[in-house]
Amino acid sequence: MRLVICEDYAAMSAAAAQIVTDLVRQKPNAVLCLPTGSTPLGFYKELRTASVSLAEVTTFNLDEYRGLTREHDQSYYHFMQENLFDHVDIDLAKTNIPNGMAPDPEAECARYEAAIEAAGGIDVALLGLGHNGHIGFNEPGTPWDARTRRVQLAPKTIEANSRFFGSSEKVPTEALTMGIGTILEAKQILLLVSGEGKAEILKQVLEGQLTTAVPGSVLRTHPNVIALVDKAAAKSIAEPWWAAQPIAVGTSY
Ligand code: F6R
Repeated sequence: MRLVICEDYAAMSAAAAQIVTDLVRQKPNAVLCLPTGSTPLGFYKELRTASVSLAEVTTFNLDEYRGLTREHDQSYYHFMQENLFDHVDIDLAKTNIPNGMAPDPEAECARYEAAIEAAGGIDVALLGLGHNGHIGFNEPGTPWDARTRRVQLAPKTIEANSRFFGSSEKVPTEALTMGIGTILEAKQILLLVSGEGKAEILKQVLEGQLTTAVPGSVLRTHPNVIALVDKAAAKSIAEPWWAAQPIAVGTSY
């Protein structure tokens, strides 16, 4: 894993956008895996104004709440239209988000896996990191070979996401999420982590045990991961760890 410590959130977002736009320029029909939440907002803002066409790109979102309609203002479907798809030349037919209202969630997850495979697999997966170390909605304890499936959200995730819903009672308790095994099949992974509030969990992801108790730690087993983090999130990283690695610091990735 390469660790890139960016000056701040804006620099982290710009670095992520540069990597993705460079890829799309080289491979206009690239397949991207996309996250929602607060962390990627700056990345989407950069992408909205980047001088690159997304017309041939295919996207797969990481996850969707179960039980929210597309129209719900907290659905990830709505999030993606609002933050990216409504503002760029992407072909909506090439965008994919799990259907949280599917009457048969198992069939929906199998369909999603088959669609990723039919698209030729994911070229780059962008990920945020939960306060409990989750990636996608793969909560602590998830086996590393898990595929796309219906999951229960951990109490910590419900608490963290209550900021979007006004109260924790309104946060859905279930979601459909790409599995860890599915994510690990991406050719490249970009992990975005910002803010002091993520410093301790980032330290565990990078320096702690490889354990299903910290789902993000699995990323250290993937051959092509760049962790793009801001200085605030990196504040607990022990200098010897990253000084000893073949990494770039700042924007020279
Ligand atoms: C979102 C997702 C989650 C978030 C994580 C961090 O699609 O899969 O894993 O990336 O919960 O969320 P924020 O960025 O809001 O702190």
